[in-house]
Amino acid sequence: MSGHPRKDFEQPKSFKFTPANMKLIETHIAKYPKGKQASAVMPLLDIAQNQNDDWIPEAAMEEIGHILDMPRIKVFEVATFYTMYNLQPKGKHYLQVCTTTPCWLAGSADMVKACEKHLGIKMGETTPDGSFTLSEVECLGACVNAPVIQRNGDDLYEDLTPENVVRVLDTLKSGKKPAHGSQAGRTTSMGVKGATCLHEQAEKCGIKKWYQGHHGQRPRLDNRGSQKIRVTRSWRRRVSDRDEMVVYAQRVKRWASELPCYQCR
Ligand code: FES
Repeated sequence: MSGHPRKDFEQPKSFKFTPANMKLIETHIAKYPKGKQASAVMPLLDIAQNQNDDWIPEAAMEEIGHILDMPRIKVFEVATFYTMYNLQPKGKHYLQVCTTTPCWLAGSADMVKACEKHLGIKMGETTPDGSFTLSEVECLGACVNAPVIQRNGDDLYEDLTPENVVRVLDTLKSGKKPAHGSQAGRTTSMGVKGATCLHEQAEKCGIKKWYQGHHGQRPRLDNRGSQKIRVTRSWRRRVSDRDEMVVYAQRVKRWASELPCYQCR
């Protein structure tokens, strides 16, 4: 299977927004002061892309320039600057691979090689059957789970490796949708060593919990409890002596233990 840049398409001679999209366009234009309607160019490009099978023809940019009373070249400048706008048809699965520094440090180069080898195409190319297009983009804003691929501008596949990216591609090929997010089993951007929180960190440091709710749950503060805590917070600011701090801690512990937990109500 050999890949090739997609040339098998023609620019339509004209483009008109549907009546429903024209209504949507009016709501976007109304968000800006009179004479500043050009500020709505980005949502209009997005609407054109959605209407035209996920790509924006030149005729649509001309129409947008006409609607917003701005030169076509300015619409073109915006459309060519952002990678979220497609100026030619893409494969059914348009894969944008992030190769910016954090993703690169996390192994995006090997992951890209695995994609190219598995699909038989290079970056910027589409598979002959039109299923996949590969393209390289700058940071997708998910560096914490690098390396990352975005599909069709929506689904992000994260924590990719040369092995699990092939699984993702095969799932897409089979017509199924892989679960988006981390492919390494992480929940969102949880640390690689698992979930931690300040309470657990405090316990590890030898600071005991000041209260323990029934059923292993933290008691939920009612208004009375919140009020007391607020009072102690202002009182704490005046405390400098260690003995007083111990008294304060015991007092907070007693108040908190009096509060009913959520399940007891
Ligand atoms: S560098 Fe790849 S998501 Fe930010």
